[in-house]
Amino acid sequence: MYEMNAREYSENVMKGYFKKIYPVIAQQILDYTGVTEGKCIDLGGGPGMLGISMAAITNLEVVIYDLLPECIEVANENIAERKLNRRVTARQGKAEDIQFPDNSVDLVISRGSIFFWEDQKKGIAEVHRVLKPGGWAYIGGGFGTPELLAEVMEARKDDPEWEKGRACRMKKNPPEHYQKILEELEIPGGIQYGSAGTWIIFQKQE
Ligand SMILES: C[S@@+](CC[C@H](N)C(=O)[O-])C[C@H]1O[C@@H](n2cnc3c(N)ncnc32)[C@H](O)[C@@H]1O
Repeated sequence: MYEMNAREYSENVMKGYFKKIYPVIAQQILDYTGVTEGKCIDLGGGPGMLGISMAAITNLEVVIYDLLPECIEVANENIAERKLNRRVTARQGKAEDIQFPDNSVDLVISRGSIFFWEDQKKGIAEVHRVLKPGGWAYIGGGFGTPELLAEVMEARKDDPEWEKGRACRMKKNPPEHYQKILEELEIPGGIQYGSAGTWIIFQKQE
């Protein structure tokens, strides 16, 4: 069972040494998918900063969706702080059982969460199920750019466990691993892989 201190993560990580990465990743998602309207889920969104950054540059209605009730509580505070209550909400649930109807979502984004899902294949199948035909998925992990990754690594240099954890997650989740999941699910899509991150990207066929 995944555990984390949501408040500490929000204050020290999301608003601390990860602060710059969310707007950059949100812009990359927008540039790639072009989705600006409709419904978006930030899956495993934690205290919500990627979804909030996505809402800030689009007209999307964003749902921060996360396993942990504490994350939902802190996400709601972050949404209120950014005065985005009319377009951003937070809801508890798990990636492997997304409580949305079939063909109802325009964009699913997810950063830094898939590594912790109990069943990644089921989660990806769920993402595909809830997407509308033509809707996009952008799921994985990363830091936006190599420069931002270098800044985060500098901020974490006194904690070798942090880099060990990151390296271990990268090793366990190489691009071939995600490509295999897409092939097994017969979802046409690709893996974007670079030093700053690994992303599973697909558009549901019309
Ligand atoms: C490292 S945090 C990343 C949070 C945020 N997306 C970010 O980029 O900073 C991982 C998040 O994934 C969530 N999570 C883990 N397993 C999950 C699952 N099966 N379904 C939904 N969320 C999950 C955790 O509760 C946690 O908030």
